[in-house]
Amino acid sequence: MTTPTRTLTGPRGVPLLGVLPSMAQDALGFFERTASEHGGVALLDFGLKKLVLITEPDAIKHVLQDNHRNYVRGRSVDSARLLLGNGLALNNGESWLRQRRLMQPAFHRQRVARFADLIVARAEETAQSWGRAAAGNQPVDVADDMMKLTLRIVVEAMFSEDVRDRLDVLGEAFDVAQHFIYWHGRTPLAPPLRVPTPANRRFLRARRVLDAIVYDLIRERRERPERQRSAEAHDLLDMLLASRDADTGEGMTDTQVRDEVMTIFFAGHETTMTLLTWVWYVLATLPEIESDLLAELRVVLGGRAPSLEDVQRLEYTDRILSETLRLYSPTWMYARESVEDDVVCGYPIARGTSLLISPYVAHRDRRWWPEPTRFDPDRFLPDRSAGRHRFAYLPFGAGPHLCIGRDLALMEARLIVALLAQRFGLERVSDHRPQMMPQVTLRPKGGMPMFVRER
Ligand code: HEM
Repeated sequence: MTTPTRTLTGPRGVPLLGVLPSMAQDALGFFERTASEHGGVALLDFGLKKLVLITEPDAIKHVLQDNHRNYVRGRSVDSARLLLGNGLALNNGESWLRQRRLMQPAFHRQRVARFADLIVARAEETAQSWGRAAAGNQPVDVADDMMKLTLRIVVEAMFSEDVRDRLDVLGEAFDVAQHFIYWHGRTPLAPPLRVPTPANRRFLRARRVLDAIVYDLIRERRERPERQRSAEAHDLLDMLLASRDADTGEGMTDTQVRDEVMTIFFAGHETTMTLLTWVWYVLATLPEIESDLLAELRVVLGGRAPSLEDVQRLEYTDRILSETLRLYSPTWMYARESVEDDVVCGYPIARGTSLLISPYVAHRDRRWWPEPTRFDPDRFLPDRSAGRHRFAYLPFGAGPHLCIGRDLALMEARLIVALLAQRFGLERVSDHRPQMMPQVTLRPKGGMPMFVRER
């Protein structure tokens, strides 16, 4: 470890609460101002607690890759543990590495390719409901529709059609549990779960419903081991149950499988839904981008539905997704905690310090992104990407914890955009200007009401 050469500085806050009110009022604007006034490694004083905001690509590289063992998911994710247990997105160290190795094969690009037909079939159902909305001139909430669609896809990728009859129950329970853990994470004096407050009881009820469904399915599948050995029948649950540690030959316990299932639901649908929702907003707002997209769809698809074979050829669609992920990065912030003292870009980081990493700010850094607020998919053309800092773009994280579902999410988004954009144009409901709402993901405040027009 080198010796610190710089001193951390940060914005001044109010007595007792520090910068908490500024953060609560407008977290995104506050992060941007802090980075521009105090640099890419800045101190955030929250009164009782001090955090460090990391937005400089070199510092991000150090934390997420070069010295990643020193930066773990710490106490800040304790609320999420109430639902996700020790699933991959919260796990650390040896236990994380073992689970990651067990799960990685299930998420390999060739393996997730098998979900292309499922994605297209479910997107067709959204197309039918948009067709009805267009005929009736009724606005739809695009955010809500994308939520239902991505939840359904991730649930069926996991369980095939085994939960078809319980999809609504599962969706509702998941929603309650998810809201609770978000609220719990922001409420320092939240009563422990054993105190029977209405909120705790609602959460525990939802968690029981989810556990019952997931454990039932695990039990049923364990009774049919031949299913996991057959090459065709594999959904994600089969793959998790079939995976074996290369050294010990051991698989996962039921609790581990349960935690990973919940984690994949949690990490896998609201993120993808947020990305898609902003894509529809961009297309409704920027006609020249929409018309370039339609030109690509005409050449690649010529009016037919997309399939797996088309995914690699949808290059402009992919650049639209990349640019949407830059400006509306669904994961706008994530947290780490330092295990030992360290020095990051010359700044001292004491052990036990909480760090916030902000892709939102890194994605607007003028050094790598000229005219940062302009939506320009062609920034991602190879010649224009040359020389860009690799850690200036991290919608899927970076280093060993890079999102395991990245290939699945990108395939899913390409197929859904190609299928729906080819048939429908969206128009904003005139008085609605969606604002980014930095919560679990960067969802639009008040949803995304839009009129659908058949092309
Ligand atoms: C547009 C969609 C998505 C975005 C923007 C996204 C973003 C991210 C980010 C930023 C991380 C790193 C977090 C960290 O370092 O702490 C991550 C990790 C993760 N993501 Fe995603 N994700 C998406 C889709 C998915 C999907 C579809 C799945 C699964 C089906 C998934 C499962 C996971 C898991 C399990 C991790 C933890 C990986 C680990 O720590 O080893 N994600 N994701």
